[in-house]
Amino acid sequence: MCGIIGYTPTRTDHHSNRDILNVLMDGLSDLEYRGYDSAGVAIANASVSVYKRNGELSELEEMVPNGPIDGYAGIGHTRWSTHGPPSDENAHPHTDCDGSVAVVHNGIIENYRVLRDELEAAGHEFDSETDTEVIPHLIETSLEQGADIETAFRRAIDRLNGSFAVAAVFSGSEAVYATRNQSPLVLGIGDDGYHLASDVPAFLEYTDQVVYLQDDQFAKLSPAGVEISDKRGTVVDMPVKTVEWDPEEAGKSGYDHYMLKEINEQPRAIRNCIRGRTDEMAGTVSIDELDGIDRPKRIHLVSCGTSYHASLYAARLFRAGGIPATAFYASEYDAGAVPIDGDTLVIGVTQSGETADTLGALRDANRRGAETLAVTNVVGSSASRETDHVMYIRAGPEISVAATKTFASQQVALAMLSSTLTDECSREFVEGLRALPDQIQSILDQSRATEIADVYANSDAYFVIGRGYSAPVALEGALKMKEITYKHAEGFPGGELKHGPLALVTERTPVIAIVTGESNAEEMIGNMKEVEAREAPVIAVTDSPDVVENYADHILRIPQTAWQFTPILANVQLQLLAYWTANQLGRSIDKPRNLAKSVTVK
Ligand code: F6R
Repeated sequence: MCGIIGYTPTRTDHHSNRDILNVLMDGLSDLEYRGYDSAGVAIANASVSVYKRNGELSELEEMVPNGPIDGYAGIGHTRWSTHGPPSDENAHPHTDCDGSVAVVHNGIIENYRVLRDELEAAGHEFDSETDTEVIPHLIETSLEQGADIETAFRRAIDRLNGSFAVAAVFSGSEAVYATRNQSPLVLGIGDDGYHLASDVPAFLEYTDQVVYLQDDQFAKLSPAGVEISDKRGTVVDMPVKTVEWDPEEAGKSGYDHYMLKEINEQPRAIRNCIRGRTDEMAGTVSIDELDGIDRPKRIHLVSCGTSYHASLYAARLFRAGGIPATAFYASEYDAGAVPIDGDTLVIGVTQSGETADTLGALRDANRRGAETLAVTNVVGSSASRETDHVMYIRAGPEISVAATKTFASQQVALAMLSSTLTDECSREFVEGLRALPDQIQSILDQSRATEIADVYANSDAYFVIGRGYSAPVALEGALKMKEITYKHAEGFPGGELKHGPLALVTERTPVIAIVTGESNAEEMIGNMKEVEAREAPVIAVTDSPDVVENYADHILRIPQTAWQFTPILANVQLQLLAYWTANQLGRSIDKPRNLAKSVTVK
């Protein structure tokens, strides 16, 4: 998804030790992970200088001046196309007719066609096909009518329908003006200047003091400070929060890819997730954030992609503990068609806390009187603010588009949540939880996924099968594989194999079978024999190697653990297999084509 960056130094006498262009370019590079196809910056001085380019950030770097640019304030943008294909013209920032206002925007302006027709009829000339470009022209109209900058900005925003985060700079002005409606925007209060961005990592190297802008609030970042006001213009006092993520955590730390770094961070992420929430002696889990939530009559989990797979896993756990629970794709959640009331707990599982479909489902549930809970990684995210309760998974920043450590942390958080709400906690459960980080570390240290990936990197497709609690992980393993290898991959319950997918199985389609515990080994071995008979190579991910060794070509071992946690361990091997396959194929692992980290449009 698009990324916004903005910066105003506290000193504009050119003795500031931070060059605006550098701050903006660094920020854009930190936002690359969100996915983009073009990028640009605008710096305001007596006039506004705009530099923008289709393609990678390196293209923009070649275009911008070498060395510092004098400027009062600047904005930048990475664009993920919606209205109009990727091109130099469609890249942000966009300007008004005489180039004295520059605007960057995330989200979608639903009424842009009407506004554009109106502006064109009044003589405005447009350079791009974007919805965004109506904003600078609307601002220009008000400025021509004599409005001051702030009023012109507010009036333009007032005309927009849709979801957006917008930032603008003006010739001759030292300020960045910004606002948001259902699209994230966070402000950073640094010693040398004030920042704004779609996401904290974009300015984390300068400051950990942040303010989360709320819907319909306006921010003015000037050398004098940050002023936040509501829709009517009344100044509001917003809390400044300290972000616990450190810049090192948000960097690559010597790994070739963020994805590999984040896979390797799972032991730490899980330790953080359970810290202070378990008591091994008593065999209990207690989650402060759940105070005030009683055992619900039913649970709905709403989520997308990887988070949906975590939800499928959790729904099983809740059901096993006696609470009817269903996982819904957030985009398919039709609260009107399912029973929902004050005894229904609707859990939005979303690492970013900004996924438009998940937020839409949560809002719908809220309107219908359900109690809502966000299980998220991002403090201050929209999901955390709009729900009745929030439980943080504490995975730390995840930069790679493919979710890895956040999935593990979601599973752990949801397992703890289920043990609390169903009252099914035991000493074995808590011991299992506590052992997970070391067990994952042992998989990371000993996995043979690299060798296996080398052998099968040129396969036609991959199938991943599992049963019971491992079935959601089979779906997740296939999703990871397709996201970063660009190869067809499909996951399904082992029992479904002969109901269709078997027709596709050949010697060029490795089948990865998750065999956990002897209890499901017999049925899984049946599946392995079926695919072996079609000459497909079989890779078993298992905690029972002795049981399956005669039926598998390769074995990826996982340690034995409590039944709830085997899928979490199995998934680590699947992540590594996907990573090393994509690496062997030379794919763009952290930023797979066409994908975005945070999907803030429906
Ligand atoms: C896959 C992936 C996506 C996200 C999905 C939901 O690796 O990252 O499928 O899981 O877009 O995102 P969140 O969890 O931020 O709501």
